[in-house]
Amino acid sequence: PRSILFSRHGESLYNQLGLLGGDSSLSPNGAKYARALPFLVSKIMGDHKLTVWTSTLNRTIETASYLPYKKIQFKALDEINAGLCDGLTYSQVKQKFPEEYVTRNQNKFEYRYRGGESYRDVVLRLEPIIMELERQQNIMIVSHQAVLRCIYAYFLEINSEELPYIKIPLHTVMKLTWTAYGCEAQMYSLDI
Ligand code: G3H
Repeated sequence: PRSILFSRHGESLYNQLGLLGGDSSLSPNGAKYARALPFLVSKIMGDHKLTVWTSTLNRTIETASYLPYKKIQFKALDEINAGLCDGLTYSQVKQKFPEEYVTRNQNKFEYRYRGGESYRDVVLRLEPIIMELERQQNIMIVSHQAVLRCIYAYFLEINSEELPYIKIPLHTVMKLTWTAYGCEAQMYSLDI
């Protein structure tokens, strides 16, 4: 059966500091995940050759760097743009933009960061990627939590209210497989 793999980037320096967005490199933990990823992927896929799609941000490129496959970068796979909130912690966002913080919690899917994007915007920019995924085999996507929430929700038919809260854990490869009954998800986590 047809399947695709996806993973978030390994833990980044910004993740460690609790900062939104940015274009930081991997933390030492994240780098460990990158080094372990080829073994995990070959355990899941055997000898199948993959093509790896990353975003254009350092943390996904570094995460994919040891995978022995062809890689393609897509801007459409970049993380949700947090606009003015980029580089802040959630508590700084709450302090600096209290009304924005409340509005986002009221409707996280529709909320558009000032100067940035909403989850709906991300869904729209992912349309060509999803169209392509529908026709492809043996793809691994290395991207970001908000983006992977949108892709996962599309294939598992999760509604837009729940979409922004889907948990996509770090240091985990998810495998989506199409069966006669629809799409199934399996998770393979590394303890790092
Ligand atoms: O690091 C940001 C996550 O990818 C998305 O965070 O739950 O605030 O949309 P969020």
